[in-house]
Amino acid sequence: MTAAVETGSRLLQARVRLACDIERASAVLSSRVVEAFLNVPRHSFVPVFYRSDHTTRLTSGDGEAWLREVYANRALVTEVDGLSTAATSSSTLPSLMADMLDALDVRPGDRVLEIGTGTGYNAALLCHLAGAENVTTLDCTAPLVTAARDRLHNAGFEPVVLTADGAAGHPGGAPFDRIIATCSVRRIPQAWLDQCAPGGVIVAPIGGALDGGAVACLTKQPDGRAVGRFLAAPAAFMPLRSGAAAASDAPESVEAAQRTTPVRSNALNDYGFSFWASLHLPPNVVRQAGRLHDSADGSTALVRDHSDGSSTVTVAGPRDLWEVVETAHREWLRRNRPRREWLTIEVGVEGQIVRYAAPDGSVSRWVL
Ligand SMILES: C[S@@+](CC[C@H](N)C(=O)[O-])C[C@H]1O[C@@H](n2cnc3c(N)ncnc32)[C@H](O)[C@@H]1O
Repeated sequence: MTAAVETGSRLLQARVRLACDIERASAVLSSRVVEAFLNVPRHSFVPVFYRSDHTTRLTSGDGEAWLREVYANRALVTEVDGLSTAATSSSTLPSLMADMLDALDVRPGDRVLEIGTGTGYNAALLCHLAGAENVTTLDCTAPLVTAARDRLHNAGFEPVVLTADGAAGHPGGAPFDRIIATCSVRRIPQAWLDQCAPGGVIVAPIGGALDGGAVACLTKQPDGRAVGRFLAAPAAFMPLRSGAAAASDAPESVEAAQRTTPVRSNALNDYGFSFWASLHLPPNVVRQAGRLHDSADGSTALVRDHSDGSSTVTVAGPRDLWEVVETAHREWLRRNRPRREWLTIEVGVEGQIVRYAAPDGSVSRWVL
């Protein structure tokens, strides 16, 4: 066997293993999506990525160690902020990509827009499914876009690859039959709704900065609304970056009060609960090192668990954020832990509304 044939067969085996892992991790997938993962090589799109410390890197020069990670069912961080080392771009968990592509239900010839090109891997899968001439992908970071365009070209795909703010979509290419975002939004931007053709599908992660957002899958109605549901898979995507976000930052309050709480600090680590909780919390709340912080009014909350099983929370600012979490938790338990895939979402001119209709006929409702 020549070296080239041997390498080719190793890479094929790696893709088959990944496809099997995806099928194990996902709900029932369409064979077209699995076939796309079998045909599109991930290694061509992640020649380098960061280890979990976000400082050291693995590159194609690391041979087998690199290849093993590339074809594992794992998210790979591919770009970090130089100062904070927070991830700013990554190749998404393949089984989550598969669930999202499955929900997007791409047919050959569909006009597709992707927000968040990143490595270009998902765009390549979209090209395989729809035909590259029908795909537009964009990212706000120019060097990522240049690298992704080259990789797509080398893999034999020539979609439209643009540097742009995804919040505006791509009006020049509209209407699209399918719109997929791989960065999260609190609300579906009006531009995406406007640029989606009637009967078209929008798949987008909805999240605040709590862990465990949820991916919405919406169908555009003839009357201009979009209605849908959430996928079962938890999805902690990096948020769609917006130049306007920092402007609303409020100073942190120094006056703090302490009290006991029945809800332990790790409650928000539960993916089942965290999305439910984020629907109750104000939109600007983030969770960093266990502490909740609302950048709009400066409120904070930090829970400490004690060895005797009790917990205390220190809250500051105009709003007791942990009280909101406690109320959400009580309600979540009372309603028997509703799962994200039981919630529906409606996006229209009157607003963006998430609903949970309980078996007893009562309805919980949140405005995003
Ligand atoms: C999880 S990564 C995308 C993964 C990508 N689809 C792939 O297959 O590699 C999220 C991407 O969203 C991009 N992004 C964040 N804010 C954006 C914005 N306002 N407009 C366009 N892209 C944005 C980031 O630069 C990042 O590359």
